[in-house]
Amino acid sequence: MSALVVIGAQWGDEGKGKVVDLYSEYADIVVRCSGGANAGHTLVHEGTTLITHLIPSGVMHPGTVCVLGDAMVIDPWMLVDEIKNCQTHGLLASNDDLLISRRAHVVMPYHKTLEAFREKKASAIGTTLRGIGPAYEAKVARRGVRMGDLINKDRLRDLITQNMEEFTGTDHALDSVESMTQEAYAIGKQLEAYYTDTGLFIYESLQSNRRVLFEGAQGTMLDVDHGTYPYVTSSSTISGGACIGGGVGPTAIDAVIGIAKAYTTRVGHGPFPTRLDIAEEENMRALGNEFGATTGRPRECGWLDMVALRYAVRINGMTGLALTKLDVLGGLDDLKICTAYDIGDRRIQSPPDTLDDFSMAQPCYESFDGWTEDIQNVRSRADLPKNAQAYVKAIETMLDIPLTLLSVGPQRQESIEIFRPFGLQG
Ligand code: IMP
Repeated sequence: MSALVVIGAQWGDEGKGKVVDLYSEYADIVVRCSGGANAGHTLVHEGTTLITHLIPSGVMHPGTVCVLGDAMVIDPWMLVDEIKNCQTHGLLASNDDLLISRRAHVVMPYHKTLEAFREKKASAIGTTLRGIGPAYEAKVARRGVRMGDLINKDRLRDLITQNMEEFTGTDHALDSVESMTQEAYAIGKQLEAYYTDTGLFIYESLQSNRRVLFEGAQGTMLDVDHGTYPYVTSSSTISGGACIGGGVGPTAIDAVIGIAKAYTTRVGHGPFPTRLDIAEEENMRALGNEFGATTGRPRECGWLDMVALRYAVRINGMTGLALTKLDVLGGLDDLKICTAYDIGDRRIQSPPDTLDDFSMAQPCYESFDGWTEDIQNVRSRADLPKNAQAYVKAIETMLDIPLTLLSVGPQRQESIEIFRPFGLQG
């Protein structure tokens, strides 16, 4: 087994950074497939905390090659800063440690301007303001700037001119095309040494049995096609997106591990059936430190939503589940899992396919007894308090896939490994 996809099974912020960091120990290559600096991974190890937005979480493992794949939208200015920050921590010492696809698209300054302008309107999505939506729009409209274009000054100038014509009326229309071309070219030249045909590199690596981990960004319910549209991001966040963004065929993938918190959070606007009332939400937010790594926004918090999670198993073809932040639930008397939604007089087990229905969905709950013991130092499933064992067993049974990992704290070692990734034996 050499190709593993790891995706978020909820609305993002499931703790992918920690799980990918752990699994990277077993991987030769870690590929970020889609999205851009809207993601934020907080990586903690031996007193070092590193937040990355573009570089995959595999970066904490020297020797693991990090790849920025074809379907990403990259802010090259942020990327240069992130590379420098990693290098001050002794990471990414060699140019071969990071590979960037020439096919990936560039988030240009005018994308952020346009998004800021739109997000002030009533139709706002609650985005991260990182220019993601406008960059993907430009890509699909076939006028996007790709990473490869950054180092071809004439093409870059033509593309910027073409795009600026679309932005008459915004501040950037006043900027000179020439100065933007020079700045973008200069930043492209700083990244050129990392440019590679990443799809070919991944294909050849799989051919020679190197282990490749495809790291998803955001979460299943934020997928542009399968999420709570229009309150979604603009990319394919489900496991299929790993093929698009990695440049590999579906038959190359051996396993798909979904990551879910032991409860649910979301940021931005859109339906959230299991959201807690204000006092309970504040308590859970404080316990779980639920503030966005990218924007610092407080996250909305709710009970575990099995309707959404079962959907994630189906739509991603999940073969296993890593459950994170189990420790956060410690001390709560009574825990709930949503097993179905009621919409009017209909009871449904799968998420509605219209926003109207989703907005009306009322959760049906099953209750579980909580536990009071601190579980951060527990390293085996059998040593968890009885009620915690019952809670995770219920999740496993309801989803009908195995749990592969339980995370009981932010540190790398605060984890219960049940199965190793890539079919490796413990
Ligand atoms: P965008 O990706 O910045 O366009 O934002 C679209 C929606 O996706 C908003 O609701 C964001 O809050 C949400 N979103 C984007 N990235 C993340 C993430 O990494 N975690 C959680 N939510 C995200």
